Amino acid sequence: MSASVVNCDVLVIGSGAGGLTVALQLAPQVSVAVLSKGELAEGSTLHAQGGIAAVLDAADSTEFHVADTLIAGDGLCDPSVVRFVVENAKDAIGKLIGYGVQFTRAEVADGKLAYHLTREGGHSRRRIIHAADATGREVETTLERRIRETANISIFEHHLAIDLLREKDDTGRPGRCVGAYALDRKTGSVTLFRARAVVLATGGASKVYLYSSNPDACTGDGIAMAWRAGCRVANLEFMQFHPTCLYHPQAKSFLISEAVRGEGGRLLLPNGERFMPRFDSRGELAPRDVVARAIDHEMKRLGVEYVNLDISHQPADFITSHFPTIHAKCLELGIDITREPIPVVPAAHYTCGGVMTNKQGQTDVAGLYAVGEVAFTGLHGANRMASNSLLECLVYGAAAAADIVDRLPQLPVPADLPEWDESWVTDSDDEVVVAHNWDELRRFMWDYVGIVRSTKRLERACHRVDMLRTEIADYYGKFRVSNDLLELRNLALVAELIIRSAMARRESRGLHYTIDYGYPDPVAAPQNTILVPEGFRLAPGA
Ligand code: FAD
Ligand code: SIN
Repeated sequence: MSASVVNCDVLVIGSGAGGLTVALQLAPQVSVAVLSKGELAEGSTLHAQGGIAAVLDAADSTEFHVADTLIAGDGLCDPSVVRFVVENAKDAIGKLIGYGVQFTRAEVADGKLAYHLTREGGHSRRRIIHAADATGREVETTLERRIRETANISIFEHHLAIDLLREKDDTGRPGRCVGAYALDRKTGSVTLFRARAVVLATGGASKVYLYSSNPDACTGDGIAMAWRAGCRVANLEFMQFHPTCLYHPQAKSFLISEAVRGEGGRLLLPNGERFMPRFDSRGELAPRDVVARAIDHEMKRLGVEYVNLDISHQPADFITSHFPTIHAKCLELGIDITREPIPVVPAAHYTCGGVMTNKQGQTDVAGLYAVGEVAFTGLHGANRMASNSLLECLVYGAAAAADIVDRLPQLPVPADLPEWDESWVTDSDDEVVVAHNWDELRRFMWDYVGIVRSTKRLERACHRVDMLRTEIADYYGKFRVSNDLLELRNLALVAELIIRSAMARRESRGLHYTIDYGYPDPVAAPQNTILVPEGFRLAPGA
């Protein structure tokens, strides 16, 4: 084996809850290579706060969880997918506990301990199992420990996948997916990974916006790679804005969990007025799209830079035990949440659309799977309900792993593939172009394709992204690849997919709100926005 070629049965690109679930359920029987573009644990999963939705209480039921998810999804969830995920939730949580994840317990009758379930927006019952306010850290670090001690898993940290590889089929056309090229961010060299099946678990694309709750890794690489490889994408207009990210000059991307509102937190204007009841009878626990729009509306109406979230009416020990991470972070910045409100603003948080998959996580390209936030499964519809996404990673991770195990005997080792060739490129002579374009892209996405949209703004954004993509393609063709260039290339493509999807939706629904079209026609059947790679064609919605 040459130093720049790695062979494995299954290549898993991404090491969050989605990727690590797949890898753990494949190995040690199957040889797995796991790629992460930073440290193994870094990604959205690590930063998840609220928890994981599952029916675990006698007062709750599958029907309630299904119904709440369908309501939040505003007519576009696939009911059979919702049921599939909800019915598999208890099992998925059981597996995590088996791996060693410690969820928070609280005293119930007779001094006995039971898992504490919190509430979040859209959930009609308490059903969020959590590890205080750092659920993602507990889940991710436990899975990481397991991965590192499982045989037959090779880990490639700081390796950024550039593009997927497809073998030629019998007719000479692109056939099944058999690997990927990846840039070693530390050495700058490019490795060819050859595999019998490939799983994309690269997370979401919220970094396409200037303000985001997401860590830096979330640049939509998997969506862009799958699109370039020939996969359809769906519903990318539904980018979710979390209503409450900390507003502070020294706080980058820090979330104030919806569980704070679930445990009684109130949203207040600077004059102390509670405003959510004016917008929705569910108040602070209305679905996220409603709360984010209400905050955006009030901020614009009053010309203020943030609103306040106040939990200080709860006892101090209740606050510090339920929200130790948030309490400590705010205190570090001079805000004592046991005594005063927290300044918050909405920020891009979750990519509801993505690479289209079936219930086994298979994409349009044979041998290629997509799991987690990168995927569009039909679970979230027009608006994801809080804490349903980690659940989706776990349920689909297991389903994809089971399907790969079934199919692997029919998936031969790929024939020889070309190694990365950079003989015609040179080192970049103008890195500032990349930095400038990166900034410009994220700013116009925030201004023109944000919480409130209009056709005119979308057209403006479309024009801008078109120019940027031409410039980036020119750059990519001439210069040696770098981390920033590759991420920018992906961000710009995903931005175009978001804009085109938003332009195609001529109604306001769920997370897509435009001043030019009203709410959905109740008679017309809701349609997904499906884009096909050939010519960015719009396919009939399903
Ligand atoms: P991630 O966990 O984001 O992992 C992506 C992985 O892909 C990383 O390892 C990254 O390095 C790798 N990667 C990306 N691109 C490449 C590339 N080109 N090459 C190689 N590797 C690559 N959801 C809930 O259900 N409950 C919550 O309480 C909750 N809280 C949240 C709080 C925050 C602050 C955020 C940001 C999100 C939260 N979410 C929550 C959403 C949820 O965390 C994510 O949807 C979920 O963790 C996504 O998992 P994933 O495995 O798909 O991706
Ligand atoms: C939160 O804790 O508010 C995030 C929950 C989620 O995004 O599901």
